[in-house]
Amino acid sequence: MATHSAAVPAPIKIRSLKELVDCGLQYVPQTYIRPPHERVDTTSSSVPVNGSFTEKLPIISLRQSGNQLRQQIGLACKEWGIFQVIDHGFPTILKTELWEAISHFFSLPTDVKIELVSQGPSTPLFFFSGLYAQDTVSDWKDTLGFRPNRSTNLNLLPSFLREPLLKFERKMGVLAQKLIEMVFSSLRLDENIFSEIHTRRRTMTFNYYPACPEPNLTYGLSSHSDIGSITILMQDAVKGLQVKREERWIDVEPMKDAFIVLIGDQIEILTNGQYESAEHRVTTNKTVPRMSVACFFAPSEEDVVQPLKEFVDAKHPRLYKETKFCDYLRNGLSKPLCGKTNLEFSSLKLLPA
Ligand code: OGA
Ligand code: NI
Repeated sequence: MATHSAAVPAPIKIRSLKELVDCGLQYVPQTYIRPPHERVDTTSSSVPVNGSFTEKLPIISLRQSGNQLRQQIGLACKEWGIFQVIDHGFPTILKTELWEAISHFFSLPTDVKIELVSQGPSTPLFFFSGLYAQDTVSDWKDTLGFRPNRSTNLNLLPSFLREPLLKFERKMGVLAQKLIEMVFSSLRLDENIFSEIHTRRRTMTFNYYPACPEPNLTYGLSSHSDIGSITILMQDAVKGLQVKREERWIDVEPMKDAFIVLIGDQIEILTNGQYESAEHRVTTNKTVPRMSVACFFAPSEEDVVQPLKEFVDAKHPRLYKETKFCDYLRNGLSKPLCGKTNLEFSSLKLLPA
């Protein structure tokens, strides 16, 4: 249709999708339109299984004995690669304060947003909008990212964000440590050693998915698995996140106070596929914006990940080569998201015989 091939209108300088949508956009600009075979197939999302019930993600209470918890987490990792946790004891006030600060950030004019994340090379923040992406189809979202490391200066965080973000991050580190230890101990691995390695690199992203005038043409976030080891995600009350299971897309139902835990590619490599990373995506809707907070935990960029010998034998031949995390990361970030194709980078199958 003619309107769809129109370029983004340029009466004012717009550098965020939210701003464009807030101006009353009535159609999806070309840069966000998926080719027909990649579009949302609404008939396959959360279809009832055997016509009688909808498959539900595991929901795990952290208020139970260690053994029971380990067993449930192990089963959820093996069968799903994703689960929700409740009764985690994470202070509600820290979540509320972070949501408020992030909502405030996204409500600011784009120029102010850009200025807040452009405080020189040691700023720990970045802002990303796919509005002007070339050669690839963009995802329907704006993203603020937080990437602290030795060379970033936390004093450059805007004051409305600094306290809520740092307090949330500190507490999240404690919860993540506990969850990741459980994941490793469910594999009978030394949870102290492995959880330390797989939480060395920590980043967070804050996603704003505007309402979309034509939700069947685009995705909030294309199908992918997470590059690192474990992701802990907080979503608001708006549906959109889906996980792929046995060729079907299942909704990750919003649950008040729950966190979503996702297994990433580094765990799939380490366990030689015993725990597979979760393939997931975000769909858009016509009426309400959606927000999420994603906390990514991964090895440091210098760490090398490869299948442990415990997971390789005659019945389970080695699937992945050893890969330095920075190489895996660089490869993953250089391409558009596309299902679980990042793992091909480490796959032994593609190596010449
Ligand atoms: C991600 C992700 C899901 C969401 O950022 O990798 O999968 O609900 N986010 O925003
Ligand atoms: Ni993800």
